[in-house]
Amino acid sequence: MHPGNRNLVTIDDLPSGEIEALFSLADEMADSINAYAGLCQGKIMASLFFEPSTRTRLSFEAAMLRLGGHVISAVDIGASSLAKGESIADMAKVVGGYADVVVIRHPWEGAARVVADYAGVPVINAGDGGHEHPTQTLCDLYTIRKERQTLKGLRIALWGDLKHGRTVHSLIYALARFGATILFYPGPGLELPEHVIRRLSTEYRGELKRSEDLDQGAKRKFVPIDAVYVTPSSPHQLAMMPDISIQVELKAGVDALYVTRLQKERQAPAAEQRESGKDYPVVDRRLLRGKEFEKTLVMHPLPRVDELACEVDSDPRSMYFKQAAYGVPVRMALLSFLLGAREIPTQEAGDSFVKKTSYPVYKRDSGVRCPNKNCVSNQETEVKYIKPQFKTVSLDPVILRCIYCDHEVSPRYVASSDWHQGKRENKKYHSAGSHWARKIKPENLIVFASEKEAQARQFKPSRYVRR
Ligand code: CP
Repeated sequence: MHPGNRNLVTIDDLPSGEIEALFSLADEMADSINAYAGLCQGKIMASLFFEPSTRTRLSFEAAMLRLGGHVISAVDIGASSLAKGESIADMAKVVGGYADVVVIRHPWEGAARVVADYAGVPVINAGDGGHEHPTQTLCDLYTIRKERQTLKGLRIALWGDLKHGRTVHSLIYALARFGATILFYPGPGLELPEHVIRRLSTEYRGELKRSEDLDQGAKRKFVPIDAVYVTPSSPHQLAMMPDISIQVELKAGVDALYVTRLQKERQAPAAEQRESGKDYPVVDRRLLRGKEFEKTLVMHPLPRVDELACEVDSDPRSMYFKQAAYGVPVRMALLSFLLGAREIPTQEAGDSFVKKTSYPVYKRDSGVRCPNKNCVSNQETEVKYIKPQFKTVSLDPVILRCIYCDHEVSPRYVASSDWHQGKRENKKYHSAGSHWARKIKPENLIVFASEKEAQARQFKPSRYVRR
């Protein structure tokens, strides 16, 4: 299959069958890394890294050079025309004219999607704020598959900054797709964001239990488990599982412990940093003596700071430098696929752990904005052309998910565009929680953040407005 202008903005852009096929290609490339020097000859990769990077940037650039291609790069917003107030869309159109593929890292969540919308060539997200980092997930999964010979039905513990860690967010969705059981060990105040929890618990076939539902044994452990996501070996088994016991889950052992650092750069006030940094959990030899970690792969996307003791480096369970090294063959496979230089046989993996969901897109300009200040749709240089867009993920209650950064908003007031008899005096708005809201068809939904906004658009309050 020729990919055309395929992008990798989120891990959802690659079906599981393609992930497996890319890994087979990466295996071939790793085995004879110098044999592919003609594959992307004459092609140019634009390497745009507007946040610090060692592994992702250099492994992408090494991958392109190994494929015989060329690299042009910009590594500092201050040295690009973004510093002069140029929009991301304009930059994308220009760079898309210079290069055959664009790799972008940017601090704003959703920036990679905007580049993909405007570049006209394949775009790869190398990390957009705290949102996603899909190629890190490919390296992570590739490492696990190398060591365990499978990606299916694994038991993975995620450790540290689950709130801001973009590598964790992409990894969770991929693991859920492959039927993993996931144990969550967040640092204090660094639990998964609500929108990630909602996706996990509504779009995949496993079951998420938060800490208040877990048995007491779990809470007594010196590093508390905050939640567990359990996928039984087949989706049909879930109904038969009486309850989730963390002790039972741990007894089976953990296949991989995925450690992440505190993402200081994504924490706004210094006070928040001090609070989270104080009791940040550390993985060391002592912790790894636990029975559940006996055969565990110790993983980390790197860079590490203090959360993973150096004494673990010599332990045969440590995988993090291998993870980083696999970045080259994995990204070679991805680049050659997206550039149309190599076809991959798409294996039918059958994403049986994914629930089929198709959400209507809300595009009306009714004043509701993404609540995430770091979202690309809220930036001064971008608001001129980006109109907020949301997936309507629920009508009862009304919940909209930003298409750029996945953050969610629950507007307080709603109306229907097919107001009674089409007469202007019948334009009424209701509280989002009222029974009227539930009757509105998604295609007719209008949402307002405030009564003022509704009234500015000539809507009057109905009897079903609660104040
Ligand atoms: N894992 C990762 O993204 O590392 P860099 O920030 O060094 O690219």
